[in-house]
Amino acid sequence: MNYDIADESLTNKGVKRIKWASDFMPVLKSIKEKYEKEKPLKGIFIAACLHVTTETANLMRTLKAGGAEVALCASNPLSTQDDVAAALAKEFEIPVFAKHGADRDTYYSHINSALNSGHDITMDDGADLVSTLHNEYKSELDKVIGGTEETTTGVIRLRAMAKDGVLGYPVIAVNDSMTKYLFDNRYGTGQSTIDGILRATNYLISGSNFVVFGFGWCGKGVAKRASGMGARVIVVETDPIRALEAVMEGYDVMPKRKAAEIGNVFITVTGDKWIITGEEMEKMKNNVIIGNSGHFNVEIKLEDLEEMSVSKEEVRENVTQYKLKSGRSINLLGGGRLVNLSCAEGHPAIVMDMSFADQANAAVYLTREADKMEKKVYTLPPEIDREIALLKLKTMGIEIDELTEEQKKYLNSWGEGT
Ligand SMILES: NC(=O)c1ccc[n+]([C@@H]2O[C@H](COP(=O)([O-])OP(=O)(O)OC[C@H]3O[C@@H](n4cnc5c(N)ncnc54)[C@H](O)[C@@H]3O)[C@@H](O)[C@H]2O)c1
Repeated sequence: MNYDIADESLTNKGVKRIKWASDFMPVLKSIKEKYEKEKPLKGIFIAACLHVTTETANLMRTLKAGGAEVALCASNPLSTQDDVAAALAKEFEIPVFAKHGADRDTYYSHINSALNSGHDITMDDGADLVSTLHNEYKSELDKVIGGTEETTTGVIRLRAMAKDGVLGYPVIAVNDSMTKYLFDNRYGTGQSTIDGILRATNYLISGSNFVVFGFGWCGKGVAKRASGMGARVIVVETDPIRALEAVMEGYDVMPKRKAAEIGNVFITVTGDKWIITGEEMEKMKNNVIIGNSGHFNVEIKLEDLEEMSVSKEEVRENVTQYKLKSGRSINLLGGGRLVNLSCAEGHPAIVMDMSFADQANAAVYLTREADKMEKKVYTLPPEIDREIALLKLKTMGIEIDELTEEQKKYLNSWGEGT
């Protein structure tokens, strides 16, 4: 079995942490038990490009239990947990190509290694695997059954490919399932972003001016958690509806040129590029903290920061302090990469339970339905969302009411009025 990992001696630590996460993923566990019996993925090779975390490890084990062969590479050079990679390769016999801190060439060579292992289905987070397949393996596109995509930024890239007529096979936007974005993006990113900031800096959020760029599903979560810890939250948006939502939540909303002057902590989570540039950094107070929780490391314009600085130093693990020509300092978290994954462990298993139940369902759905699907981006049917939500509630010991026949009839009719 081929694999490329950093350190085999971390295997035991990885096994323990993967099992720990598994205990908080009861929905995925029940899917695994079902797949073990039914083998719905028998004969299917899945090339996966996901953050190599304990939760992903449990997804890989579920797919394998369902009969699939899998190969895993990282979807970000800084999110790989080397102990998890070691455990997957050495204990669970899953080919993994991932090393924490891999340079760009190694990162892409790992993507190629995963693709070369096989790819009836692609499972992506950010669409780097899919774009490599489309650029470098064009002749193989027809053989791919379909793909799944985990995050907002990946879905945006794939929809752009479909619009340009270059998407080679159908893809399911797992991100767009309600049991994914309403929970993973909001509560997962909300908590784990704060976790990343705290682990890296030990900063007191309370009393700070905390600037959130982007009030989407992730931004809403980050703002809520920062506010809950006593920060004065400032939201920067370009969408008037989202800006209005932030105002109604009680946050200050202002353009970034103003927010730059008063913030203590700045977190970008827009999925867009060049949100914090030299122009804003010039205005910032001394010793501010800046970080990004959006998918790619393009939200903070690092070129500008490098250019404005006379020196930089790793002052704590995952904190680079830039000394500016003006004499002020800016502290950059996790090199501008996803702060929750580079400075902490990513989302808690409890929330990834649903995202990865969606992923497992999407893979099986493709094996059944892909021949009827076009080369477009699809969402999973709402029944699957409902089923996962019900299962999650059940594992939490929570019951809900059911509509009566009369209520169902009423809700589907127009006859009854005042
Ligand atoms: N850190 C994580 O673990 C994690 C988890 C899920 C998603 N993501 C990533 O986070 C990013 C955001 O995802 P989301 O689901 O919240 O997306 P979203 O589309 O719901 O929200 C993005 C928001 O950013 C705003 N925006 C865009 N350009 C802007 C600009 N120039 N200035 C200010 N605001 C701007 C948009 O108006 C929108 O409201 C994506 O890159 C996504 O892939 C990260």
